[in-house]
Amino acid sequence: MAEVALGLDGGTSGVRVVAVDAEGNLVAEATASYPLLTPKPGWTEQKPSDWVAGAFTALREIMGELGAHDVTALGLSGQMHGMVPLDKRGEPLRPAILWNDQRTLAAVEEIEAKVSQDILIRRTGNPAVTGFQLAKLVWLRRDEPENFASTAHVLLPKDYLGYVLTEEMIAEPTDASGTNCFHLASKRWDEEVLGALDLSPDLFPTVVASHEVVGRLKQEVADATGLPVGLPVVAGAGDNAAAATGLGLGGQNTARGSVSLGTSGVLFAPLEEPQFDPEGRVHLFCHADGGYTLLGVTLAAAGSLDWYQRTFAPNKSFSELTALAGESEPGANGVTFKPYLAGERTPHMDPNLRGSWRGLSLATTQADAVRAVLEGVAFSLRDALDVMSPLAPLSEALATGGGAQSGFWLQMVADVLELPLGKPAQDQGAAYGAALLALQGTGQIASAFEVGETRVSERFEPEVERYREPLERYRSFQT
Ligand code: XUL
Repeated sequence: MAEVALGLDGGTSGVRVVAVDAEGNLVAEATASYPLLTPKPGWTEQKPSDWVAGAFTALREIMGELGAHDVTALGLSGQMHGMVPLDKRGEPLRPAILWNDQRTLAAVEEIEAKVSQDILIRRTGNPAVTGFQLAKLVWLRRDEPENFASTAHVLLPKDYLGYVLTEEMIAEPTDASGTNCFHLASKRWDEEVLGALDLSPDLFPTVVASHEVVGRLKQEVADATGLPVGLPVVAGAGDNAAAATGLGLGGQNTARGSVSLGTSGVLFAPLEEPQFDPEGRVHLFCHADGGYTLLGVTLAAAGSLDWYQRTFAPNKSFSELTALAGESEPGANGVTFKPYLAGERTPHMDPNLRGSWRGLSLATTQADAVRAVLEGVAFSLRDALDVMSPLAPLSEALATGGGAQSGFWLQMVADVLELPLGKPAQDQGAAYGAALLALQGTGQIASAFEVGETRVSERFEPEVERYREPLERYRSFQT
């Protein structure tokens, strides 16, 4: 029987499972969605039980599709930074608080008062960030003291799924480094940072390498999904690191990065050694290859276009809107848009920042307006690239995410970043990278990164002068 490994990505809108053979071919896939809860403005939560139900549905479906294939391993990936607090029996105490939740400003201030920003950046790679797990835990202690008192363990989203599948509580470096309390150099929970905040390291799980087997699939999960009992489950990686693994980004080649135009926009650069920005404007995380990565995040990328469409052009599709933008000029006839609709991470690290328009006139057309939105996203990515470049110079980047469907937008992003972009021939996302890590962890391939090494189907060479003046204009005002 032909053998495949599964990769599972528990994302924010749903779960995706893929089956991949040892040559890296995608054999089958299945998805299931679950709700996002927004109990108050700025709050985002999900029920861990919804993740489990979604994962089981997708696993059952893919097992139905796979028929004669032998499933040999399962690797995990998922949305980063979230907090799942569990009681001593391993039951979730409340809904998980997600990466894009913004309730934790007071908790961030508390962290900064107890651990200097400089120390936090040097030890963990990042300043205190509202979206990261540590701030959520401090929030829980301040705002839900009863839940905090009952908390015996905290897990990241994909690691909670790993626990449900195997009964083992495990974390791995790519996701652990997105908590704000993981010591990058030693790849252990940071007892100094946790001690300063009077938090016990015992709350956190054992850390293993991303390709390591964390445990074996439980009988009751096998019964519910059709997967073989005892299947090796591999730790995997947070979604950005897993997606990069699936594109072959990492290993020896640190000159190729990626730019993702999803709801948020992410610039990703692999590193062999940790390089931090002393001002903490870009994220420094561990990578699944044992090295490190820099991540610049603009929170509303395709999310800005989505907002524009919903608000001003509900009858036009994304491709109609990008075609319309092509009728305007570089610089959008003087219109500038700041895409800080959800606050901003890189380079401002300010959840309270808001978007804005400048330069509107009676002559402004919808083509100018939508072009300004696309340009604003590209300029915010350029701000991120300029912080990252001295630490991790890139000579090219692969373009991924829903927004990468638009060749027009990709050319614009290449021009603004002054960086050649390549569209991967195959872009299977984080679930695919998780499956490759599962193949590696069970000895079926030597390295996930070699199998992931990506062919480019289309290249976008930058026209470097085109957007310099509009970029200067964009930078001439803060919000
Ligand atoms: C990265 C980040 C997001 C989430 C989305 O820092 O917050 O990319 O991982 O799932």
